[in-house]
Amino acid sequence: MLCRSPDDLDVAPKDLPPLPRPNRVVLTTPTHFDIEYVINPHMSDNVGAVTREVAWQQWKALRAAYTALDCAPALVDGRPGLPDMVFCANQTLPFYTPRTNTRGVVLSRMHRPERAGEVPHYARFFEDRGYAVKSLPEDLDADFEGMGDALWHPGRRLLWGGYGYRTSPEAYDALSDLLDVPILLLHLTDPDYYHLDTCLCPLDADHALVAPKAFDDAGRALIDTLFDTPIEVPDREARHQFACNAHCPDGTHVLIQEGCETTTKRLRAHDFVPVEIDTSEFMKAGGSVFCMKQMVW
Ligand code: ARG
Repeated sequence: MLCRSPDDLDVAPKDLPPLPRPNRVVLTTPTHFDIEYVINPHMSDNVGAVTREVAWQQWKALRAAYTALDCAPALVDGRPGLPDMVFCANQTLPFYTPRTNTRGVVLSRMHRPERAGEVPHYARFFEDRGYAVKSLPEDLDADFEGMGDALWHPGRRLLWGGYGYRTSPEAYDALSDLLDVPILLLHLTDPDYYHLDTCLCPLDADHALVAPKAFDDAGRALIDTLFDTPIEVPDREARHQFACNAHCPDGTHVLIQEGCETTTKRLRAHDFVPVEIDTSEFMKAGGSVFCMKQMVW
């Protein structure tokens, strides 16, 4: 059930089982957030460049924005020695199976050893709250970075799977079996767009923010086929302002890095309501709104 081009798709998304929007948000405190190593191009030149107080203020504003949208966040404490743990979209892929009423997460296999120690903290957090915690098969030699690369198509049991930098394509064979879902594979071809959530942001069943330069022709064709209205993001805003690392929790509001002028204009033209947040301290590490939260059922 892996699709690499529109020709591989034998069902329309509307014929797949429906999936409600996840309604709980998890954030991780930036207590130990820092830049101590370089594992993506955005981090180079930024080692040691985080201003702690500013990072805290920005994180608190993000928490307040979710609270204002009636999504009061549950909190995980950041741990010493894990400076990227604040990016809590990466250690798991949450899922919900309506047929069996199962809420769970699949644990990531971080590509970078620097981040591997984050995963057990989230395994425990979700286990303690009654979620089914699943792992990819032990004998599978593949990397998988959770919702950095795997994104649900809004409203359907259908996954988008980015690969090329942090996640290996083999992970999606296993994931498709484990969750019994079709997966639309997107090959990432530009190192600035090292995670799928830096270049594709599904907003609702029809709309998505897209940075076309991140994909090959087959990927762009898949996106254009599956979304009625892809909204193109200028390369400058996607690459340097993380405009695609936005998050639409409710089908209307879009939490997005402050100052993405063209993208916010385009969002308004399609009746979305941008909520601008400054995540500049976190962008130094290669992430913005989308990767600073995890949505669970
Ligand atoms: N420094 C982190 C890394 O390179 C940033 C992760 C940002 N997360 C994301 N989903 N884009 O892994």
